[in-house]
Amino acid sequence: MLTKEYQEHNGAKDANTWYVGYNYDESASGGEFTKGLRPTSIRYADGRLVEDKDMHFCAPAGADHHRRSRGRGRGNVLNEIVREYNDLAMLVKEFQEHGGAKDANTPYVGYNYDESAAGGEFDRSEMSPCFPIPSMGGGQMADFLYATGKALRGVGCVVECGSWLGASVAPVAAGLRDAGSTAAIHCYDRWRATKEEVRKAAAQGVELFEGQDLLPLFKENVLAIYPHVVCHQGWTREATWRDDPIELYIDDCNKDPEDFHHALATFGPAWIPGQTIVVLMDYEFYRKPHLSAEQRERYACQRRFIEEHADCFEQIAANIGGTSAVVFRYRKSWI
Ligand SMILES: C[S@@+](CC[C@H](N)C(=O)[O-])C[C@H]1O[C@@H](n2cnc3c(N)ncnc32)[C@H](O)[C@@H]1O
Repeated sequence: MLTKEYQEHNGAKDANTWYVGYNYDESASGGEFTKGLRPTSIRYADGRLVEDKDMHFCAPAGADHHRRSRGRGRGNVLNEIVREYNDLAMLVKEFQEHGGAKDANTPYVGYNYDESAAGGEFDRSEMSPCFPIPSMGGGQMADFLYATGKALRGVGCVVECGSWLGASVAPVAAGLRDAGSTAAIHCYDRWRATKEEVRKAAAQGVELFEGQDLLPLFKENVLAIYPHVVCHQGWTREATWRDDPIELYIDDCNKDPEDFHHALATFGPAWIPGQTIVVLMDYEFYRKPHLSAEQRERYACQRRFIEEHADCFEQIAANIGGTSAVVFRYRKSWI
């Protein structure tokens, strides 16, 4: 259970890093938590402690006039929060600050859970397992990629260009594994750490060095999940492909028109009309504000291609997890 959430800061986390702390009722009887580990208080980063008293009621610690007149529905104090829980002690409603007692008009944040069950057990089949792999987008899309991998029909293999440390392919691999598949996943990457990659990995707690061969690390991250992974190390513009049909194509590195068009010519003929899912993780990258006009023009090549062949692709998802990714189903050949 989450107990501390450190705030954004520069440099490594240290004893002075601000955090929000979460406390739970851990009283137990006969080896069971009697109050289901219900949240009891939150400590905000500025040190303010907000206590959750019983009856799902919160009041600021130290507010003595509240201690004297504790009861439901006073609701006129700064930071007073009212929460509701379900029978599993899971938070379902968090009422917002407001003047006066909570009533039917008090705004609240509601939390809904996937309660689909099979054989008396919660079935979380579309949720990806957790992958502690540094990510440049794959982590944010993990649930989608897991569900996609799991739903593949076994009519072809998977190709990914731009795998880095495995954050985007690991959920696909887990989905295939959980579906009992043995379909091959082919990963293409140069796997050679750049300065920027070293920085991004460090920000996620993994130390790399510039020029490091990342293939061993990638294998360590992914092969333990799924053994049917084939690694092709090198520049994608030198990539080749046999004729095996491709059921899922993920592209997270061919932003440049030359690379993208080489990838299309290499892998496109193996896409299966009506079936292949094409995940273009950089599709909307060209919109990034830090890019020059010239870069924007170049990186819009994926969008231009899809728009010029709109009858060949059907868009099925966009900006998953807040990323630049757009996903298409391949309909028919553009050639
Ligand atoms: C954005 S990262 C991939 C991140 C990964 N998909 C994820 O979700 O964490 C792009 C990767 O592709 C590699 N790469 C970039 N351009 C490449 C190219 N033209 N050929 C081969 N690899 C390339 C980079 O070194 C890096 O490992």
